[in-house]
Amino acid sequence: MKALVLPAGEPDSLKRAAEVLRQGGLVAFPTETVYGLGADAFNPRAVARIFEAKQRPAFDPLIVHLASAPDLPRVAAGSDARLAALTPLLWPGPLTLVLPRADGVPDLVCAGLPSVAARVPDHPAALELIRLAGPLAAPSANPFGYASPTTAAHVADQLGDRVDLILDGGPCRVGLESTILSLLTEPARLLRPGGVTLETLRGMLGRVDLDEGPLARPQAPGQMEGHYATRTPLQLAGEGAGKPSRGRCGLLAFSGQGGATGFEAVERLCPSGDLFEAAANLFAALRRLDALGLDLILAESCPEKGIGLAIMNRLKRCAKGSRGA
Ligand code: TXA
Ligand code: MG
Repeated sequence: MKALVLPAGEPDSLKRAAEVLRQGGLVAFPTETVYGLGADAFNPRAVARIFEAKQRPAFDPLIVHLASAPDLPRVAAGSDARLAALTPLLWPGPLTLVLPRADGVPDLVCAGLPSVAARVPDHPAALELIRLAGPLAAPSANPFGYASPTTAAHVADQLGDRVDLILDGGPCRVGLESTILSLLTEPARLLRPGGVTLETLRGMLGRVDLDEGPLARPQAPGQMEGHYATRTPLQLAGEGAGKPSRGRCGLLAFSGQGGATGFEAVERLCPSGDLFEAAANLFAALRRLDALGLDLILAESCPEKGIGLAIMNRLKRCAKGSRGA
């Protein structure tokens, strides 16, 4: 059965979605980053359905979504002075914090780890839904390993027969997943670059370490090689890779106009030159290229600064996972 799709801005939709969640169902909902696949975080059977729907391995823990920072003690134990520097400015927002886990959070949510990942999404419908139905465990609403959905249609295409309800809030503003920062250590460690930049975090905390081998050592298991893969092989341009002489090839470009002849399709991520615009367009552009049955997607690179670090992180993983690299 196909999931019901309701407008996220309507109070009645949110009431209905909250009811589905209270009954142990799955609701896909918009956030400012990407669409999440939500279940009641304190209902292990509902959380198990997330893993089943996504075909996600049980060793990959979920993010718990809260309505506000004062709710953090419901899922995280202890106190950390760094929270006072981060949460007033960055929550609600695309920052996930890894902290010691509180009693009562189901094992499955945290994959048995002694830590929990939590964030407060910056989206009115998501916040209202959490207020109505309680903290929600929610991964990105895509099949395991595929690019995250940034529209309700992306969710419906891939998981439409596995969720009970989809709330349609239009395209996601940020378009890339949240930054994951571990506060289990001092200095803090960046486990996944995302919507909040490393520069911003360093500005607030001073030193923040980069997770050294995110591709090799899955500290955040979603850091595994090959996440975000397209079915079409994707290669990063440069370093010897250019348009092959044979086959149908698509180009994923940033702002430039030149060098795009002979491609079957071209997606330009940021005509304005703004990399935040590129981030917001990235996953939808990848999906459009992936739907064309091309032999190869050639992706340009951008500087790994600011949001560019997160964009290149996703493109490199996509290249690995699609066997294009
Ligand atoms: O923007 C986002 O974060 C989106 C929206 C829906 O909020 N969610 C998202 O969830 O990207 P997901 O499951 O696709 O990615 C969550 C990542 C995974 O890589 C997981 O391994 C990591 O968070 N994670 C969760 N709990 C963790 C923990 N205790 N320690 C380290 N990593 C953790
Ligand atoms: Mg994901």
